[in-house]
Amino acid sequence: MYTQAMDTMAKEGKGAPRAVAALSAEDAQRQARFDERIDADGRIEPRDWMPEAYRKTLVRQISQHAHSEIVGMLPEGNWISRAPSLKRKAILLAKVQDEGGHGLYLYSAAETLGTSRAQMLDDLHSGKAKYSSIFNYPTLTWADVGVIGWLVDGAAIMNQVPICRCSYGPYARAMVRVCKEESFHQRQGYEGLMVLMKGTQAQRDMVQDAVNRWWWKCLAMFGPPDADSPNSAQGMRWGIKRFTNDELRQKFVDATVPQARLLGVTLPDPDLKWNEARGHHDYGAIDWSEFWQVVNGHGPCNRERLAARVKAHDDGAWVREAAAAHAAKHTPVEAKAA
Ligand code: 3HC
Repeated sequence: MYTQAMDTMAKEGKGAPRAVAALSAEDAQRQARFDERIDADGRIEPRDWMPEAYRKTLVRQISQHAHSEIVGMLPEGNWISRAPSLKRKAILLAKVQDEGGHGLYLYSAAETLGTSRAQMLDDLHSGKAKYSSIFNYPTLTWADVGVIGWLVDGAAIMNQVPICRCSYGPYARAMVRVCKEESFHQRQGYEGLMVLMKGTQAQRDMVQDAVNRWWWKCLAMFGPPDADSPNSAQGMRWGIKRFTNDELRQKFVDATVPQARLLGVTLPDPDLKWNEARGHHDYGAIDWSEFWQVVNGHGPCNRERLAARVKAHDDGAWVREAAAAHAAKHTPVEAKAA
């Protein structure tokens, strides 16, 4: 269905042009086979020929996604030692470990495209590679942990379920398990907030305060408006993205409003209202200048997050060295000689 929509865009000249400039006859044939498979909604696998721009786009998106998962462990990791009960601590530990696992699947998926984990990590540590804006905000109270589960993971699921149908096989397959786990994350967050909302007035106030601080950041997390999103048209054409940033943002708003009502919190947007004609909720203006500030490294926690990642990497050097020494020791003699 989305591929048909993309075809129409391409025919009407609205989609990004196909990368066919200056191809050899052989490459033109490969390009045609690649385009056919994309048009038929087929999968591209690591050993298949692919245009260089497709490969680069995937390395960019998958590595940024992997970085987001591992940087995303930090804001909530901050609460593991302060969780209010053993049960909440066990849930939070499992969730943060899941995020680490997601990062590892995604780094592996990116490696199938010819990049290395060391290169990707260098890019993260030097500040060259992006990761999600949302993880550059502080987690001030326990309610933030619930709100991150409900809203941040809820937004992540909205964005990531369509990636299970991404045209690149390893990325699509990695996302199936990631989405199942994210779904548990979203539910544990919502359940934790439900408990707080049935507690004292101070607990309800704490939840509302956390919702007020995270709501707009979650809307921005879907990325710039379609008109300002340089990668969307080509990403859609290639079947990497299945919905645009604005489409996913709208789905998220529509899904979240009834959940907020049930929870008993107010979403901090006076312009948020149902629009009968559109069949969707209208919502207020997002502060895009704040979003770009954060993406460009000037959010409240950017420095702290990167410093924590660099320190973890440095502290883990001995593990990598030991693993490499162990592997060398156990490499069969014939393989060494070859
Ligand atoms: N934070 C930081 N940078 C962002 C961003 C965000 N929230 N949204 C967009 N950007 C960046 C893009 O990476 C791009 O930068 P680049 O060209 O230098 O790489 C630029 O802003 C323009 O944006 P586009 O819309 O043109 O870029 P894309 O077409 O790549 O769309 C995206 C951006 C929607 C984030 C897309 O890359 C995507 O769907 N990625 C996969 C999902 C992902 O990475 N999610 C991050 C959150 S993961 C998470 O939340 C973990 C979970 O456990 C909670």
